Amino acid sequence: MKKLFLLVFISFVFSCRTSVETNSVKEVRVQNAAVVTAHPIASEIGLQVIKDGGNAVDAAIAVQFALSVCFPRAGNIAGGGFAIYREKDGTGYALDFRELAPKAAREDMYLDEAGNVIPEASIRGALAVGVPGSVDGMDQLFQRFSKLNNWDRLMQPAIDLAEKGFYLTEMQEDDLAKVQESLNKINKNETSFTASRKAGQKFVQKKLAEVLKAIQKERRYGFYTGWVADKFVETMENNGGVINHLDLLHYKSEWRQPAEFYYRNHRILTMPLPSSAGVVLPQVFEMVSQYNLPGGGFHTPTSIHLVAEVERRAFADRAMHLGDPRFNRVPLYNLMHHDYLMDRMKSFSRDKATPSSEVREGVFTDRESMETTHFSIVDNEGNAIAVTTTLNGAYGSHLVCEGGGYFLNNEMDDFSVKPGVPNLYGLIGGEANKIQSGKRMLSSMSPTIVDYPNKSLKMVLGSPGGSTILTSVFQVISNVIDFKLDLNGAVQAPRFHHQWLPDQIMMEKGGFDSHTIQVLEEKGHTIKEVESIGRVEAILIEGDGTIVGVADKRKDDHASGY
Ligand code: DON
Repeated sequence: MKKLFLLVFISFVFSCRTSVETNSVKEVRVQNAAVVTAHPIASEIGLQVIKDGGNAVDAAIAVQFALSVCFPRAGNIAGGGFAIYREKDGTGYALDFRELAPKAAREDMYLDEAGNVIPEASIRGALAVGVPGSVDGMDQLFQRFSKLNNWDRLMQPAIDLAEKGFYLTEMQEDDLAKVQESLNKINKNETSFTASRKAGQKFVQKKLAEVLKAIQKERRYGFYTGWVADKFVETMENNGGVINHLDLLHYKSEWRQPAEFYYRNHRILTMPLPSSAGVVLPQVFEMVSQYNLPGGGFHTPTSIHLVAEVERRAFADRAMHLGDPRFNRVPLYNLMHHDYLMDRMKSFSRDKATPSSEVREGVFTDRESMETTHFSIVDNEGNAIAVTTTLNGAYGSHLVCEGGGYFLNNEMDDFSVKPGVPNLYGLIGGEANKIQSGKRMLSSMSPTIVDYPNKSLKMVLGSPGGSTILTSVFQVISNVIDFKLDLNGAVQAPRFHHQWLPDQIMMEKGGFDSHTIQVLEEKGHTIKEVESIGRVEAILIEGDGTIVGVADKRKDDHASGY
């Protein structure tokens, strides 16, 4: 009898844990603060930091480290990202902790002797890794904006998670199963990811816990120097990578001026170069604003056609003009000039798709002198932070740091490996985004904050999804401002995407009726149905001050608040 009771009790506890951690909450409506991330545990950790007196930045730091443990697909310490922070008084800040090309990187490093791209070289294994920025980025955020001023406290939940373990969700089990073979091929030694993992099993990462403790003790130096750096460099050397100790030591994240523009009287703050968000989003909003998008109706062929045509033109510019501005002159003024954008739309026809072969990047004669996982947080004082952080592809290069237990990014693939050859996201690039030592690779990550016309905070949002990040962020903002959807409706609505090349509209399967698709095809569009586009975590402050946090329904994403 006693035994039976024990068994029932254990299975009760077990089922509570798994259900608490897998049943993600998609919408919270609260009065004080909200934290929306890709994983329920990370959202709760962030919220607790705020309840304990931390601000949005403190919560973001705790979330970033927690995601590196409970969301290894994209959460990271060996990746990079961008943060847009808006203080309660409206002042905006942008932190660029993007990876960069190591000193030994060369333009032709992924080409064979005949000049052909070596398959997967920029995607899998040690050569695909860019010098990571996340730990320095968190240290920078901490130094400048922490309210708690207690780094130990911010790191402790991640350390506990790694050391004591957590329960994997069903989506994580499926997700890991898909990459198991590749992980075992790429990693010569046993890692935490060697054995297949099941949902509801406790997942402990001892080596990662040790690395996190080193970072807890010495902040950035715990990662970029000492035994942790030694293990990183050894992993490079054992696996044909080129990042050395100096690359690590010299990594520095950069404070930048946020890209700022207006759409229907709303100020929008997003990430400037090396993220393409600061160019593509203002271009798309400006081109769209010359038409009556709302009048075309929500998700009608008319509206989808307009947006796809605008995106086609903006992505042509992205491909050919954008790259790290420290290395190339990017004609920013020209690219965002109203007259130029109106000129771009002269070839727009309401009835017919313009084939991408007839759309080129803009040509400027008057050269000017001289751009994953996302989380959104609003704290109880009204400060807001949007952070998008990534290993690039899921589980990055698939290479786990030997003796470190964490995934290394494959961000080098965001460079244009060879002009005209598409990357992981089908994006092509030109001279402006070619590989150069010390250069940051062009990004689409778009952490974004929107104000009301009265200048108070309206929305905080962002998404993973490579090139589709830009259009996911655009559509959620447009769904709210143009089509008056509530935040949940705006985030969960089906999405579509055009990126110039390939010349097609990607549309979420089952999200659009057959009539809409037929009309778009009649206009000359090629439609490619895909499972899902983007994974948006968003917060909206309603007129009466209610904070609405919405997590994307597409995966385990979770909104917390109080
Ligand atoms: O920076 C970029 O644009 C890409 N490395 C982002 C990768 C990404 O969103 C992966 N998520 N699905």
